[in-house]
Amino acid sequence: MTTGRALLLEGIHSDADAVLEAAGVSVTHETGALTTEALDEALDGVTVLGVRSKSRLSTDLLDRHPDLLAVGCFCIGTDQLDLRDAARRGLAVFNAPFSNTRSVAELTIAEIVALHRRLGDRSRELHEGVWRKTASGAHEVRGRTLGIVGYGHIGSQVSVLAEAFGMRVVFHDTAPKLALGNALPAASLTDLLSTSDVVSLHVPDAPSTRGLLGAAELARMKPGAMLINNARGKVVDLDALADAIRDGRLGGASVDVYPSEPKRNDDPFSTPLAGLPNVILTPHIGGSTEEAQAAIARDAAGKLARYLVEGSTRSSASVPEVDLPIPSPDRHRILHFHHNVPGVLGRMHTLLAEIDANITAEYLQSDPEVSYVILDVEADSISEISDRMRSIPETIRMRTLS
Ligand code: NAI
Repeated sequence: MTTGRALLLEGIHSDADAVLEAAGVSVTHETGALTTEALDEALDGVTVLGVRSKSRLSTDLLDRHPDLLAVGCFCIGTDQLDLRDAARRGLAVFNAPFSNTRSVAELTIAEIVALHRRLGDRSRELHEGVWRKTASGAHEVRGRTLGIVGYGHIGSQVSVLAEAFGMRVVFHDTAPKLALGNALPAASLTDLLSTSDVVSLHVPDAPSTRGLLGAAELARMKPGAMLINNARGKVVDLDALADAIRDGRLGGASVDVYPSEPKRNDDPFSTPLAGLPNVILTPHIGGSTEEAQAAIARDAAGKLARYLVEGSTRSSASVPEVDLPIPSPDRHRILHFHHNVPGVLGRMHTLLAEIDANITAEYLQSDPEVSYVILDVEADSISEISDRMRSIPETIRMRTLS
């Protein structure tokens, strides 16, 4: 049974197709982003839209396509549309925030080794025809201390991989975290900075993390220690980092993210770190691997498929999260978004009781404006139930699964 039509834009990895097709969804692809006019036309009859970072979905566009049930942002963020606006229209938005974790962790490990061996410098010299064979300033990573700031999805993977290389791992996180392997929590950020040979940052971008490593914090790092920032650009004061490297207080750095980044390839770019010794610069490619693209496709498509087939909004970026086990085949499932005001659930119960529909499962979640409820009912006919649920004035969107 077909449960809908999906339009996937911007060359979304084809691993998404099998997941959506298994849910009965027919899939069409476009290699690029579409202009608003072209998208307007293409969205006719589409129930699921998949986008990556280049598409923009305006309120007007969404107004013209009320049949669109869900949007999949096949990437880490959800900047393509206004999430509050999506919630208000009961439009479920899903993304794939953790599918490139492994890619970032692997790059970080590569950089830890590369910084310890000064690979960037040696490689650049040889490209310039300069043969400089030396052991000076080159170290094994075995036995050295890695300090991880932010022990979440990426930080904890880096921890496991670094220990496999024989490193000692300490970490600092503002939330309580289970230490993996032999890693140990540092007493404080200051303690971590003063004891680590290399510090790797894996915190989110937030008011509390902006400028987390400024001149004062960099001054607390061990002499000759190195810094890796594959997290977010505003976490480190790059001028202060450049000063510390130029003065020889720090031994090097690897940076993938910047306070301001070019929008397109080949746009101009500059950083105070350019040309400094033992500094590896990469253009925000930490999560950019083909494996991560495939993982993003499977993750986002899986969430969309579960929403279409079961009504599950687990890990939705826009609407309240509701998830109920699949009902037995003799039950009907009602999926109902409504304005979060008192009395709506009571009215639903009354309307169902009037036609002897027995509720067998129910789960409601609300945000300040919008509520989403899944109700499983035993009843002879779903059409009367649908009509009754739709008649509730606070209804935003409703569908049934049988
Ligand atoms: P996560 O949310 O799983 O982990 C972040 C951790 O940082 C959490 O455990 C949190 O409690 C902790 N934290 C928050 N504020 C802190 C503070 N002030 N001090 C210490 N710890 C703090 O996030 P995930 O997936 O591990 O990502 C980490 C960072 O990596 C994010 O900034 C993300 O944007 C970035 N990232 C970069 C990519 C790239 O291409 N370079 C790709 C993917 C993610």
